Amino acid sequence: MAITIKNAEELEGMRAACQAAASVLQYLEDHVQPGVTTGQLDDLAREYVLGPLGCTSATIGYTAGGSRPPFPGAICSSVNHVVCHGIPGNKKLKRGDIMNIDVTVIKDGWHGDTSKMFYVGEPTVLGRRLSETAHTAMVAGIEQVRPGATLGDIGHAIQQVAEAEGFSIVREYCGHGIGRVFHEDPQVLHYGKPGAGEVLKTGMTFTIEPMVNAGAPGTRELPDGWTVVTRDHSLSAQWEHTIAVTDSGYEVLTLRNGAV
Ligand code: MF3
Ligand code: CO
Ligand code: CO
Repeated sequence: MAITIKNAEELEGMRAACQAAASVLQYLEDHVQPGVTTGQLDDLAREYVLGPLGCTSATIGYTAGGSRPPFPGAICSSVNHVVCHGIPGNKKLKRGDIMNIDVTVIKDGWHGDTSKMFYVGEPTVLGRRLSETAHTAMVAGIEQVRPGATLGDIGHAIQQVAEAEGFSIVREYCGHGIGRVFHEDPQVLHYGKPGAGEVLKTGMTFTIEPMVNAGAPGTRELPDGWTVVTRDHSLSAQWEHTIAVTDSGYEVLTLRNGAV
């Protein structure tokens, strides 16, 4: 599968899909409270996406090319030691939990994919530091993006930030090209060497979505076929934006109120 380049009109479609995805995270913000279940958040997201937003969900029924059971949620909800792909259900949030909510919508055939961390009440000192570090790492990766830079430049910048704090980068899951297809080339690793890998070109669109563990980097997949947890049960945090490479550098397509 080759890397697709989006022209100005196609980028306009991506921008609209990405802004729709970003609005879902904003919509959910006030609803993340102690006592709320991840399934209730999923119901709210589903009604909003399919109703007022006028989008379809890229995750409901998603099988990753037939390799997994159909994903049931309009969001992934990954709490505490869950790294990613948490299935929403009857899990009740409690004060001090940290949670990633990841949403991917389709608008006019274009995919928008973004996620952020939420605190349930006040986080622990470690929970806050981990979440903030994962965010700083993502931003460091984004700031590498310009024509002529490489995927290795992005991965290296992300890895440096996480490891300088004594945290680790998950290796088994990565960012991805995105467009009319949910997961397309290239794979965007969150670790690497400066100058290595694919050279970036104007019109590429891909996600940057580092998963940062408080303990060891190892992960394990639960028998449900989706939920990924840290092997050592340490906390994990993730943030994700969909990015376009522009002539002057980058555009973050999934900004929320103009902020990363
Ligand atoms: N949104 C995730 C990503 O960033 C993929 C979720 S697939 C699902 O690539 F089926 F688990 F929802
Ligand atoms: Co993604
Ligand atoms: Co995502």
